[in-house]
Amino acid sequence: MGLETLLHVGGKPAWTNPELPSLNRLPAHATLVPFPSPELAATLDPLRSPWFRSLNGTWELQLAPRPDEAQSALASARGWSTVDVPGLWTMQGFGRPQYTNVQMPFRHRCPPDVPEENPTGVYRRRFKLPRGWHGRRVVLGFGGCEGALFVLVNDEAVGISKDARTPAEFDITALVHHDRDNELVAVVVQWSDASWLEDQDHWWHAGLPRDVYLRADGPIDDFCVRAGMDGMLLIDAPEGDALLVNPRGKTELSGPVREHRIRSPRLWSAEDPALYTLVVTCAGESVSCRIGFRTIEVRDGRLLVNGRAVRIHGVNRHDHDDTHGRAVTRGVMEADARLMKQHNVNAVRCSHYPNDPYWLALSDRWGLYVIDEANIEAHAAYDDVCRDPRYAAAFLERVRNMVERDKNHPSVIAWSLGNESGYGPNHDAAAAWVRSRDPSRPLHYEGAIARDWSGGNRATDIVCPMYPSVERIEAWARNNTDARPMILCEYSHAMGNSNGGLADYYAAFDRHDQLQGGFVWEWIDHGIKKTDEGGREYWAYGGDFGDDPHDANFCADGLVWPDRTPHPALRELMFLARPVGVEEVGRGRFRITTKRDFCGLGDFRGTWELSDGRKGALPTLGGARVDVRVPVEDAEWVTFRFHLRRATQWAPAGHEAAWEQIRLRPAPRPSRARGRAAGWAGFDDLVLEPPCLQLWRAATDNDGLRLLPERSAGPLPRWLELGLDRAIPAGVVHRQAFRRLGAGGLLVENEVELPPPVRDVPRIGVVLVLRPGLEWLEWEGLGPWESYVDRQASALLGRWRSTVGAEYVPYILPQEHGHHGAVRRLALVDELGRGVEILGRPVIGFSASHFTADDLWRARHTSDLEPRAETILSLDHAQRGLGTASCGPDTAEHYRLLESSYRFAYVLRRL
Ligand code: GAL
Ligand code: MG
Repeated sequence: MGLETLLHVGGKPAWTNPELPSLNRLPAHATLVPFPSPELAATLDPLRSPWFRSLNGTWELQLAPRPDEAQSALASARGWSTVDVPGLWTMQGFGRPQYTNVQMPFRHRCPPDVPEENPTGVYRRRFKLPRGWHGRRVVLGFGGCEGALFVLVNDEAVGISKDARTPAEFDITALVHHDRDNELVAVVVQWSDASWLEDQDHWWHAGLPRDVYLRADGPIDDFCVRAGMDGMLLIDAPEGDALLVNPRGKTELSGPVREHRIRSPRLWSAEDPALYTLVVTCAGESVSCRIGFRTIEVRDGRLLVNGRAVRIHGVNRHDHDDTHGRAVTRGVMEADARLMKQHNVNAVRCSHYPNDPYWLALSDRWGLYVIDEANIEAHAAYDDVCRDPRYAAAFLERVRNMVERDKNHPSVIAWSLGNESGYGPNHDAAAAWVRSRDPSRPLHYEGAIARDWSGGNRATDIVCPMYPSVERIEAWARNNTDARPMILCEYSHAMGNSNGGLADYYAAFDRHDQLQGGFVWEWIDHGIKKTDEGGREYWAYGGDFGDDPHDANFCADGLVWPDRTPHPALRELMFLARPVGVEEVGRGRFRITTKRDFCGLGDFRGTWELSDGRKGALPTLGGARVDVRVPVEDAEWVTFRFHLRRATQWAPAGHEAAWEQIRLRPAPRPSRARGRAAGWAGFDDLVLEPPCLQLWRAATDNDGLRLLPERSAGPLPRWLELGLDRAIPAGVVHRQAFRRLGAGGLLVENEVELPPPVRDVPRIGVVLVLRPGLEWLEWEGLGPWESYVDRQASALLGRWRSTVGAEYVPYILPQEHGHHGAVRRLALVDELGRGVEILGRPVIGFSASHFTADDLWRARHTSDLEPRAETILSLDHAQRGLGTASCGPDTAEHYRLLESSYRFAYVLRRL
């Protein structure tokens, strides 16, 4: 009975009625837990409140194929299984995850319609109310819900909620028994009118991914705090008392709830996240939160934090876990925040929905600027839903749910109206509401400027485009008269072996103050762990669950793998975002400067190391700038490293936060001896297949979307037309001249000529097959991680060691990897030290692998690859840069191979 009332409101299916975004849902409010005393409230630990009870745990679940069958499923005694809450049924053996980007997960529908076949989860559990809840308002809360939520308690209809990623809370006081068990039923309908507002580029899941809880509320149902850099503290709460404890644990204020002024507060910033604890007490109930004194403004074309323009070293983060899907634990969130901080990331865009409140608590505590984003993406109906009056209430409600929940978090520096939903009156309505409710933070919405960077002023205070080229943002910075700063909401698409050109964006940010940085797309690869028939684990992407339609591996585009191992590209971002910089100011004299916006050098200990092996420690650092001397003599380069002096909340003492290498003089020139003409000989026992021309590489995701060919923007289609994946095209000339040098060396001189249609190829080089066993690798050149011509700012000249096996970089879709440039010498040996040595003339690039380019090209998952016993040694004179064409501009011209002829040489020797 109760369920029927909810599923058909006003005689219409409630799950396809956008004018009904919720029913009986309590107004959104700040995250709060009531405590019986200010002392307990100051702990901020919900477990210490008698008025909070978690309902997380094992629940019963039945999956009905359609909403109309939920009632009979509920009535049936059979067919129940148990699942974990928080948890998604799509990750617990029911239904399946499905990945789509722009398109909806079903075909031939328009908003608000959804398919008849519509998995409907019927969740059930019993609960008892704790003693002493009589006389208080009993609230049932769901931190989030993937799918439209219909709630019943003791068979009575409670309410409806559709915003999947903010808390749905209901007043159940009148329905609960205090003296016996209660039954809670949550029916989750996977597809609804709300799916059209949640068309984010991510997996579609269903279930209850966040905490479920009960709360016994008293007089305080919300409170709003504003704390500015001038020490003004505004508390908007029911009449009562306020207590403020400063970051050192001392009471700073104890008095009535009203406006206060704190003298010289310690300010909050991402660099120094100083937090105060505020407790508000009213009629025997206390609530609390951490606050930070800080001011955010957009003034004169700059985003200012505490009056200073800040640089945004940002990433976009989705909730993702390779075993639990979008249900992320606190441990997972901590792992993300820790890794970000360790890699000098200072800002996160919550793409594309409010994250669990714990994420904001972490950002407050550890110091991350957050762009909080409303759970609105109508990508598949981009220009429609934003103007559809039926969806107006849902827009407003979603934006309000976010702002009201997160308003007290100092880490939130801007409100985003959502993502990729066009721009229409529904946005302006929501924007006007935010401007009136919270004038203390700017608005952000990319859709408002998507078609015209000078437009959209009502809905965005930041010009926040996605994937523009360096040229375009610089042209804007030079010519524009916009009073808004530019912060790229997405750029440098990290799909596969990617992030080419990141340093060029940073150079543009350095040249123009109005370009304040951006958010790399994106933090994590959304692979889901799976096991193949052979028992080998791999990360699945779209289509691997039989999901259709799907968008293949386009969800694997993060800076870290799904287990949060960093991609090499994260090193590049870490370097570019480093807190300390060094420049040479004279022979042996260096200037060390803070690159942070607020903090100086005092947190770091510095060391130097010269190319000749000499090392030393820098004098104590402090202030914003220190000049030092290093006895460089005739060293070729010096490397500075900076380590944390003391442990922080997110890294141990000694953590290396920055490095910088400075070349002091040109590299020594290698011998030019040419010896006498000879043939290929003398290596047959080591080199099983002598050098032959290699133009092909296993295309990266940026070269072309192998599994989504119709969407490719890179050069891959042209390469395939030329047949580069199969053979060297007709007309290409490769001449190799072998010359015997003293001491057993063989000089190999190469000339390559390309006929007119063959330009802009993946690589110019040769490939050799070495006998099994040559596993140990040492090189002098750029390292230690892989680097490419447009992603090598972070790489260091040095002598590096590795093994061929360890050189494998397991991009989710196997592809080109493991390249090292500017190599002078390279040795590959067996366990007895026998093998080959290669000397660049003057330098050469290389990768050493147990896979050929073709092996990688044919594989679809890492588990498809069988390592060969031999070592495939690619010697590259040049490789095309990586770029970011999988979503964004193609590799810049100066990183492409556009010449018609190339010459290069190297020496091969036995060891
Ligand atoms: C953007 C979008 C993101 C993601 C990205 C490509 O257009 O906002 O959600 O789809 O492109 O990976
Ligand atoms: Mg999208």
